Amino acid sequence: MKKDFLWWRDGIIYQIYPRSFADSNNDGIGDLPGITNKLDYLQDLGIDAIWLSPIYPSPDVDFGYDVADYTGIDPKFGTMADFETLVKEAKKRDIHIVLDLVLNHTSDQHPWFIESKKTEDNPYHNWYLWLYPKSDGEPPNNWTAIFGGSAWEFDPKLGQYYYHMFYKEQPDLNWRNSDVRQAMLDVFRFWLGKGVDGFRLDVFNAYFKDAAFRDNPPKWGIRAFDRQEHIHDVSQPEMIPLLGEIRAILDEHPGGYAVGETFLANPSQTAAYCGENKLHAAFNFDFAENRWHPKRFLDSAEKWYGALEPGAWPNNFLSNHDKVRAASRYCFGEDDRRAKVALAMLLTLKGTPFIYYGEEIALRDIPIRKKSEVLDPIGKTFWPFFKGRDGCRAPMQWTSGRNAGFSDAKPWLPVHKDYVERNVVNQAAQADSVLMFFKRLVALRKSEPALQRGDFKALTPDPHTYLAFERSLAADRLVVLLNFSSREVQAALPEGKWQAIFGRDGEFENSLDLAPYQVVILKQK
Ligand code: NOJ
Repeated sequence: MKKDFLWWRDGIIYQIYPRSFADSNNDGIGDLPGITNKLDYLQDLGIDAIWLSPIYPSPDVDFGYDVADYTGIDPKFGTMADFETLVKEAKKRDIHIVLDLVLNHTSDQHPWFIESKKTEDNPYHNWYLWLYPKSDGEPPNNWTAIFGGSAWEFDPKLGQYYYHMFYKEQPDLNWRNSDVRQAMLDVFRFWLGKGVDGFRLDVFNAYFKDAAFRDNPPKWGIRAFDRQEHIHDVSQPEMIPLLGEIRAILDEHPGGYAVGETFLANPSQTAAYCGENKLHAAFNFDFAENRWHPKRFLDSAEKWYGALEPGAWPNNFLSNHDKVRAASRYCFGEDDRRAKVALAMLLTLKGTPFIYYGEEIALRDIPIRKKSEVLDPIGKTFWPFFKGRDGCRAPMQWTSGRNAGFSDAKPWLPVHKDYVERNVVNQAAQADSVLMFFKRLVALRKSEPALQRGDFKALTPDPHTYLAFERSLAADRLVVLLNFSSREVQAALPEGKWQAIFGRDGEFENSLDLAPYQVVILKQK
């Protein structure tokens, strides 16, 4: 079966936030050699690819998502030689590298923008979206920035406004300019040439905006950003042919891959970007936003599968660098039982699992208590209603030693105080830890192709306590039972004889009892 293995479909993709994974030079910030040092850990974990949040030179207004050079490495993360070593060492361990490409906007410190704002006839002026004010001096239209305020920033020297969907330090590029388009396609080629296998495309459906810059219509909402329908500033039809061009470049590299972060899109809009001549995958936020209820997750998963065109492969995630971690959302205190069920769901549902660093030890968000401690600028802007994204970006917890073994220096964000207990070393020594549970399940997934690419059938159409589904491939039939409840429940089994292969021993017919939060996987005999 190994020969049919396709890494981005059958494997597991692990997201690393490089600032917070492992600090090799003890400056308090994680780096590339730190990641390389942990490749044996990642291989042992059983993951097949790492997605690195941005590693390019950046002034860090948005912690790497404001890029000042698309083909460089930020010195705080190391050198290009360090990156090449990481790629080489990862390949030795069958680990693929996925880079985060932030191509909707640059940093305002990018040389292109610095040129762009010099004069109106500068060759780079038209690389960004500059417009004159309305006759009353107001911004060119009503578009708002998701990070607060108008999306237009006035430059008194030029007498023009430039557009930014995010911070004002992140000017949006003009993708209708063919020079921009070519420069960006070259970025894909550059990194593929360095041995990268895939890309995560940051807010790709925002690249194009309405050519006539029409106002967005109003709607009800609390924040200014939500008080308009975003029909002219995102999701323009020009994206589809561009995806075709990107796909053609990726297809020249065996196993080349792209997963898109769709911005402000529902599952069917997101699914429309996936498939032939388009992206391999995109993120389904609907799934990640569910409250703890099996029917919610089942409905989201089925909606997602139904929306994708035949041949497009789903993916699933619960946590990332922008969201409160799944363990913080779902678990009570330090009780990890729900975190195990959530991980089991990711590893067994149909779709490539995306795991966020630390999810394998059920890392929790660090508490954000004071505005003065917030580093993420949106946390300052929207305090106290939204405290920013620092919580889910705290250092990985490796050991019970100083700074959880992340760094000898003071880490850029505090380590969660539970690290003395919750860390990789401790969990590796406890058979019932989240980490060991995760590893056992990954090993099972590897040995059962039906769990990787099998068909999916729900067995409980209206689940309230436990989720039950079947994964089948050729002659193999597996049943997955996930008890979401704190009660013992009896699960009905499909006809036949079933051998437990995870979570239990023995053979079952008709039904079996699930302990609270128990995960059981069975295989038809
Ligand atoms: C989405 C990224 O995930 C987020 O971290 C970032 O702030 C915005 N895009 C802007 O690049």
